[in-house]
Amino acid sequence: MRIFSGIQPTGRKHLGNYIGAIRQYVGGQERAAAAGDVAIYCIVDLHATTVQYDPAVLRERLYDTTAILLAAGLDPERCILFRQGDVPEHTELCWLLCSVTALGELSRMHQFRDKSVAQRELVSAGLLFYPVLQAADVLAYRAVEVPVGEDQREHLELMRDVATRFNARFGGGRDILVVPEHRIPAVGARIMDLQDPTRKMSTTGSSEEGTVYVLDEPGAIEKKMRRAVTDSDDPPAIRRGDDKPGVTNLIDILAACSARTPEEVVASLADARGYGDLKAAAAAAVVEELRPVRERFAELRPDERLLEQTLAAGAEQARALAGATLSEVREAMGVGPPR
Ligand code: TYM
Repeated sequence: MRIFSGIQPTGRKHLGNYIGAIRQYVGGQERAAAAGDVAIYCIVDLHATTVQYDPAVLRERLYDTTAILLAAGLDPERCILFRQGDVPEHTELCWLLCSVTALGELSRMHQFRDKSVAQRELVSAGLLFYPVLQAADVLAYRAVEVPVGEDQREHLELMRDVATRFNARFGGGRDILVVPEHRIPAVGARIMDLQDPTRKMSTTGSSEEGTVYVLDEPGAIEKKMRRAVTDSDDPPAIRRGDDKPGVTNLIDILAACSARTPEEVVASLADARGYGDLKAAAAAAVVEELRPVRERFAELRPDERLLEQTLAAGAEQARALAGATLSEVREAMGVGPPR
């Protein structure tokens, strides 16, 4: 079973990225290997160019993201970790897949609508084509499973449509592309902003105090968790529910960071005096979860040459796999010389 996922090198990685995605990547290495296949993880620098950005900062963030992924437990001996911009097959496949992508679907995507209104100077065509490049990322490797958080569900649906349409149009009865499945975690697929628990924690648009960063010091994590918005139920009720977004978020964070179910977390807090106990327990669990990542990051991040070597080795492996798919896609579409 082949696994593929991608992560943007923009901004600072936060607890939502970590619980919703990065932890599943780490577990995916074992699961793919157990099935005799490989997990492939891509840092998507080309996607990051679709909004206003600073080229020098992009490079810095790319190294940050690479070091965070390695610190969290990705092992280049057991997975393929690479930078999207090193593998030109992604952009070629993106263009080829445009032929089976409906413009109307792209313009209706939530991310396009949200991000295009946020652009002050230019709404780039790249923003519209973002999901086609994302489809190319996955389809180039014929991945079966894509670990992501809840916010990527729509992009996954589009990717499945594109693959299905491609096979129907060009497959000649064969499935040249694999229609992938998403893998969205049962708990923690949508970690919310601590200050506004009706909005997801995100790199853009959520508040500094409401966002726990993977590299935050313990003191900063404790402060943000202590100040998390809950509700004014009297007496305080520690339970999950649509009417209790702040408390639900804290229960989910604690569950995800202590390898328990939300029900087990709620039961363990039956004697709690109030939300303070929930916040303290969640803060302690998050601090312990992120501590080793932060410490390992500090060791890995300074050696940019080693990070470059790791990414280059990953790109070589990735190109071998993506190149094989591309040659079949070109052949099926009648592009370039016959094979
Ligand atoms: P990105 O970089 O925004 O996010 C990386 C991963 O983190 C998840 N995530 C969250 N999970 C739970 N709670 C949150 N608050 C939260 N915020 C983010 C995201 O769902 C994602 O899994 N378009 C993608 C990158 C991409 C990609 C791909 C993903 C490019 N190509 C191919 C999968 C397959 C993105 O912007 O993720």
